[in-house]
Amino acid sequence: MAMERTAKPLLRALAGEAVWPPPIWLMRQAGRYLPEYRALRAKAADFIALCTAPDLAAEVTLQPIRRYRFDAAILFSDILMVPWALGQALEYREGEGPVLPPLRDEASLLALRPERLPTAIAPILETVKRVRSGLTKEGFADCALIGFAGAPFTVACYMVEGGGSRDFASTRTMAYAQPELFDRLIRLLTEATVSYLGAQINAGAEVVMLFDTWAGLLSPAQFHRHVIDPAQTIVDALRQSHPEVPIIGFPRLAGLLIGDYTTATCVDGIGLDTSMDLAHAAKWIPAGVALQGNLDPLALVAGGAALRQETGSVLAALKGRPSVFNLGHGIVPQTPPEHVAALVEQVRAA
Ligand code: CP3
Repeated sequence: MAMERTAKPLLRALAGEAVWPPPIWLMRQAGRYLPEYRALRAKAADFIALCTAPDLAAEVTLQPIRRYRFDAAILFSDILMVPWALGQALEYREGEGPVLPPLRDEASLLALRPERLPTAIAPILETVKRVRSGLTKEGFADCALIGFAGAPFTVACYMVEGGGSRDFASTRTMAYAQPELFDRLIRLLTEATVSYLGAQINAGAEVVMLFDTWAGLLSPAQFHRHVIDPAQTIVDALRQSHPEVPIIGFPRLAGLLIGDYTTATCVDGIGLDTSMDLAHAAKWIPAGVALQGNLDPLALVAGGAALRQETGSVLAALKGRPSVFNLGHGIVPQTPPEHVAALVEQVRAA
């Protein structure tokens, strides 16, 4: 018989075990708040070059693991590498964020090239392989590797709008005014996401996460159509091809719809944003689903007594359930790295 091996804490939590203290990792744990990231970032021509250089991207992925020994590494890439791989021009401008030519008509939809995806994402898959072997080589035996993709609606937001926005008004107007065109875009992205996540799993990702940052902008009917339905399709397809790999959904600012999202999609873990009341979440989310969240990233910037108190409340609310400690949204660049160390220490002592 094979030797009994204790599963990694993150995988146990996502399998429905109330692991305590909870495993911890942080959204955007690799990034500009770390001096070692800024040093390495300066070596790449631009952000896309960094994401498509497997040696650099793997190194950046491992940086926060070496510093904090998180329970998970998350592939260093970006949700917009999918539109980039489909052939939509993409640029990251300093201080402005991502910029793309807005996709507003059928001609731009037809110009996307899904057949290019496998070739274009090859360097990202190579990063996944290198991180997985790097974790083993460097002795991080308990650290699980998370792959990810943006959910179709959030990726569509950037593709249609042509960049970031406060309310993604053009995107949401298009969903009403040109519903067939918008549905075609969502379907194309749903299929691309299934292949992309499946390929990450084949390359070594042990968990996958679906980021739907702008889900909360939608009306309830549109939320069902453009957030829940595509997530359900993606989860169903991955369960067919890779039944052993847990999936985390993150429908940010879903509010009262968090229960519908979780039960309809059958995700193994549910990312909760900062605004979510964990008592509400615990009531509306099935008991076997791991709750992941939801410390305010700005409490991590503040540090001190406020950070200790907020962390204590999140821990108290997660206790007794399968859970994963995380932030309610990504780490911000002004976060002092020593506050992250204090957070990890408090969670590990819980
Ligand atoms: O550490 C990790 O979490 C893994 C890497 C990761 C990045 N982006 C790296 C990144 C992940 C998981 C993402 C997801 C992502 N990207 C989301 C969903 C999660 C969320 O934060 O809401 C979204 C909406 C994006 C799109 C995106 N990428 C924007 C709007 C920007 C510009 C704003 C910013 O923070 O700079 C990016 C760039 C980006 N993605 C950076 C990093 C580290 C900064 C680029 C740089 O170093 O200059």
